[in-house]
Amino acid sequence: MCGIVGYVGKEQATPIIIEGLRRLEYRGYDSAGIALLNASSIHVVKEVGKLSALRSRLQKESPVGTTGIGHTRWATHGVPSEVNAHPHHDCTRSFMLVHNGIIENYTELRQELLDKGHRFVSETDTEVVVHLIEENYSGDLLRAMLSSMRRLKGAYAFAVIAAHEPDTIVAARCGSPLVVGVGNGCNLVASDASAVLSHTRRVVYLEDNHAVRLGRDNLVVCDIAGNEVEPNVKEITLNLSDMEKAGHPHFMIKEIFEQPSLVADVLMRRIPPTSREIDFQEARLQTLGLDRIRRVMMVSCGTACHASMVGKYYIEEFARLPVEVDVASEFRYRNPVITDDTLVIAISQSGETADTLAGVREARRRGAKVLSLINVEGSSIDRESDATLYVYAGPEIAVASTKAYTAQILALFLLALFLGRKRGLLEEPHFREVVKELRLIPGKMQSVLDNHEVVKICAHKFSDAPNFLYLGRSYNYPNALEGALKLKELSYIHAEGCGAGEMKHGPIALIDDTFPVVCLAPAGRVYEKMVSNMQEIRARRGILIAIATEGNKEMAAQCEHVISVPHTHEALSPLLTVIPLQLLAYYVTTMKGLDVDQPRNLAKSVTVE
Ligand code: AGP
Repeated sequence: MCGIVGYVGKEQATPIIIEGLRRLEYRGYDSAGIALLNASSIHVVKEVGKLSALRSRLQKESPVGTTGIGHTRWATHGVPSEVNAHPHHDCTRSFMLVHNGIIENYTELRQELLDKGHRFVSETDTEVVVHLIEENYSGDLLRAMLSSMRRLKGAYAFAVIAAHEPDTIVAARCGSPLVVGVGNGCNLVASDASAVLSHTRRVVYLEDNHAVRLGRDNLVVCDIAGNEVEPNVKEITLNLSDMEKAGHPHFMIKEIFEQPSLVADVLMRRIPPTSREIDFQEARLQTLGLDRIRRVMMVSCGTACHASMVGKYYIEEFARLPVEVDVASEFRYRNPVITDDTLVIAISQSGETADTLAGVREARRRGAKVLSLINVEGSSIDRESDATLYVYAGPEIAVASTKAYTAQILALFLLALFLGRKRGLLEEPHFREVVKELRLIPGKMQSVLDNHEVVKICAHKFSDAPNFLYLGRSYNYPNALEGALKLKELSYIHAEGCGAGEMKHGPIALIDDTFPVVCLAPAGRVYEKMVSNMQEIRARRGILIAIATEGNKEMAAQCEHVISVPHTHEALSPLLTVIPLQLLAYYVTTMKGLDVDQPRNLAKSVTVE
């Protein structure tokens, strides 16, 4: 939701912090700020708007200091403004703090501090923390942080500097991600590893309710009670090149075009050409007691939830296990029936989504085993699950999820085959036939991408439409929801996804000649039903855009636009039909001149409720 970066070392901190914030800007970008510690004086620069506005200010002011903290904000409490931008200071301006998360009891704390004479300048929840640290400080910043943590409720990741403690950063987390970069002669702290990667591959993923004091060449980790904890230093495998656009105009289009190769790479990893089994070794599935699992519940948000819905069809089809899909924000507040034969599967690209993380904790509290499908190794959900299946999509920078979605669908398909085999329900010949078709998918995805100009023409025709409707059935029903989400979150055009069979129960009332309707109609068991629904729309002068299987002649006769995808196993068709939907959203958005990688009001990782 927000990005935090801190540096303490021998070099000037400003360029290092700004480079780190640039890598985190996808997390939030309505304002940004930096605080530098130089001897015992602190210099703060804050700006509304994107990081580029802060960078321009810094070129004029160029503050010095080899210790500093920076922040990119996604506003939760208080409008985007310079005064609400982080870092926030105490009454004496001796402490500067940046925060990612939400302090749920900030109102009572603010009143308590006001009663003690503290003066606040911002509307944020964050500001109470820096005044709490001021209140608790008696010569040791780490101790003051720990005392303050014990008063807080909510989710947070902090970094704080103090005029009285040169060459020192104190950081802490509970519920929001924070990673320490262990360098040579320097140490860093950031919301995710990508921001420290150009300085070190050695990281410590801070645990919840832990705090750390960083010096130039030392670090001390403590738990909330003040007991020192041995830092668990890991080596990260991320590559910086994966963080760049590689010649593409935007991260989103780069990530859309990466999908064929990522599917090919995952297949090579999970079912090597000579292998007859699916390799999930790193996932530690044996800890889940799969033999006694009789039902599955899936918990996720947004695009990941649409992938879960596709996974429901797969697991019920191949493993014959009943599957229930919940959005995490509902799951965690209802009273789910979880028995000891329930497997909960959490899906999350970032592994930091607050609602999904809370769903994982609630499921485990109720005695379920949790398997998570994650893209970011070392993330909170990864570390709090009983077993983790990595989807290996590589870093996904664009706020709109694309390649992670197809990687999640692929992972669920393979998991369903794995469970089906394990339960003796998927005979060898059927398994081989499905895997044979699966191995053709990367090439078929590529041919859809090669045909991207057709989608661009379609986008050009309809980019001014005020509304869109997306229809699908069976395996492609979730894709209808996903296509609508992509369009609305990027182009700000209202778009709705709907099961095609549901049209006549209400949505068909919307149809007129201003309404483009995107219909997912690949060959398969429900194709004829889709054709009937399309005819109902046509009879009401609706504008039909079909995603259909190559060679389909009848679609051209009744649709304004047909986008073809190669023939494949019906269950695998979502991996192909989603690509035109991703491209359509991308082209419409860029034609409207909007920021496709950082759409308004959104953030890549929703780490608050
Ligand atoms: C994806 O396009 C959306 N930006 C959003 O719905 C996202 O899928 C959702 O916030 C879940 O994120 P996660 O996969 O990181 O948990």
